[in-house]
Amino acid sequence: MLIVKTIHETRIHITEARALGKTIGLVPTMGALHEGHFSLIRRCRDECEYCVVSIFVNPTQFGPNEDLNRYPRPFEADTRSCREMGVDLVFAPEPDEMYPHENITWVQVEKLSEHLCGASRPDHFRGVCTVVAKLFNIIQPDSAYFGQKDAQQVAVIQRMVSDLNMPVEIRSCPIVREPDGLAMSSRNRYLNPEQRRQSLCLFEALSLARELVCGGQANSAIIIEHMQEIITSHSEVRIDYISIVDNTLLQPLLKIDRPALIALAVYIGRTRLIDNIIVDPPA
Ligand code: PAJ
Repeated sequence: MLIVKTIHETRIHITEARALGKTIGLVPTMGALHEGHFSLIRRCRDECEYCVVSIFVNPTQFGPNEDLNRYPRPFEADTRSCREMGVDLVFAPEPDEMYPHENITWVQVEKLSEHLCGASRPDHFRGVCTVVAKLFNIIQPDSAYFGQKDAQQVAVIQRMVSDLNMPVEIRSCPIVREPDGLAMSSRNRYLNPEQRRQSLCLFEALSLARELVCGGQANSAIIIEHMQEIITSHSEVRIDYISIVDNTLLQPLLKIDRPALIALAVYIGRTRLIDNIIVDPPA
């Protein structure tokens, strides 16, 4: 497995793989890899002949008071996992390689980036789209793999690719959870034992929402109220948002009469966690 830090060298290896007629898959990550990432990597490796994982903690998607500096960077363990999973190339640039001068060109997906996480993280998706567009230009993958854990990110990237005619297939992969239901996240390691215990309320609230919908409840406001009740009974947890939106344009749904994304974000101490489920109205 190759570990490459420069764009130039990456392009040489990609050109070689292409010359051999190989299909190229990309899994973009910020490292601190866990089973959620591994599920994307395994699928990429199974579906593509040349599997690239990028590891880059992208500064432009972090807000001024967010966790850019303390974001975990266990590089050795990450590359070891990639090697074990049969990754062909890890692209791990330094910030200066990706942003050699002040960035003044941005990819911004309007509307879809504004609600949900976009409301409390105003420049976040602009940073995500810009770095993902750069990674697509550097690696030119046939397919790129993203997790449904970040449902809004998948929707925004799908729209970017469609609006800008980028020649890449976006593959969305299911959320991988801990045995007790907590969605895996690199940020879970910030939680102390009590916070980890309270973090279960995200999955509890989403599970209750699913039960309500299955039982015929279609009124979003009522479902959100029940979810709020669960979460506010946990002293360490503060709600950022709970939203029920349509699963394509992410516009608020007052009534669940079509497939809906139920998404939430909370703060547990200083740690921000997100989770979601997709529900269909009962037939
Ligand atoms: P990161 O948070 O490292 O996540 C990389 C990919 O792993 C994302 O597509 C994310 O949705 C997926 N992922 C994370 N946890 C998951 C889980 N529990 N189950 C399934 N998939 C999971 O998302 C980013 O990095 C960045 O924004 C990035 C796209 C790399 C751009 O910088």
